[in-house]
Amino acid sequence: MKADEVQKVGVIGAGIMGSGIIEVLARSGQDVVFVEVSDDKVGSGRGAVEKSTRRAVDKGKLSAEDRDGILERITGGTDIEAVADVDLVIEAATEDLDIKTELFAKLDTLTREDIVLATNTSSLPIAELAAETSRPDKVVGMHFFNPPPVLKLLEVVRGLQTSDETIEFARAYGERIGKTTVLTKDRAGFIVNFLLVPYLNSAVQMLDDGFASKEDIDTAVQLGLAHPMGPLTLLDLIGLDTALAISGVLYDEFKDPIYAAPTLMKRMVAAGYLGRKSGRGFYDYSGGGK
Ligand code: 3HC
Repeated sequence: MKADEVQKVGVIGAGIMGSGIIEVLARSGQDVVFVEVSDDKVGSGRGAVEKSTRRAVDKGKLSAEDRDGILERITGGTDIEAVADVDLVIEAATEDLDIKTELFAKLDTLTREDIVLATNTSSLPIAELAAETSRPDKVVGMHFFNPPPVLKLLEVVRGLQTSDETIEFARAYGERIGKTTVLTKDRAGFIVNFLLVPYLNSAVQMLDDGFASKEDIDTAVQLGLAHPMGPLTLLDLIGLDTALAISGVLYDEFKDPIYAAPTLMKRMVAAGYLGRKSGRGFYDYSGGGK
């Protein structure tokens, strides 16, 4: 199948990344069927797209009619069999290898054998997910960045068995949905997280060491390096649980202490201080934001 022939896409997971991906796909005119593990999560995934598109209408960036069209193209539910007739699957479930391997085995049996199964994993091996399927040549990484409707990058990750045709498909599909693609090998962290994780973890360590206040660490990076946000604000956006999981995968792969999750991050995750999504991370979001 060619990238421009895709009409209906299955998205697995509608958390921060999944809901953003769903919005990107529906905005580009495709039908999206998404799957979550509970009715609550189906509701919050849909709610995130409703909120984001409502904001766009309020700002005059999207017409109310176009918003209705976007929302009509999206169907959500808890039954994974709903992806049986899609032209592409993008998996954006929790960053956990056991969950993802189980999903890929299931997706392989449920979907048409000619379609590509893509994963939005930020660090897990594509080869291990491909090994669960009878079509390892059609398994590829398509890694979006948070928030997906805003950030233009798509990392296309070539697993050991991914075919040239699948890479070509993923790159063309990325362009079709308005992204710029880069190609990377199947190595933990790919390009961006390989560079980002040591930086974020160092910022947490600096804070824990009392080197500077959280506000000053963030201001220094924002104004001194012209980043849109400082590292601790960014960690709150990504989610500390996700950042912890990615650090663990990078550390396991390279055994280099620069990837080891800092103690403060582990304790904050244990305490439920996950960032924006839980209402508190380095900053307090209980009133709706920093
Ligand atoms: N969904 C949709 N649109 C959003 C959005 C969201 N969640 N958040 C912000 N936007 C839109 C706003 O509506 C606004 O649109 P407009 O320009 O058309 O009016 C635009 O983005 C700018 O937003 P704001 O004015 O509210 O705020 P900022 O200018 O501060 O931008 C930001 C917010 C886009 C989040 C910006 O601060 C940013 O780019 N931060 C860095 C994010 C980053 O580094 N992400 C990568 C994380 S790493 C990753 O994802 C990999 C993973 O594996 C961990």
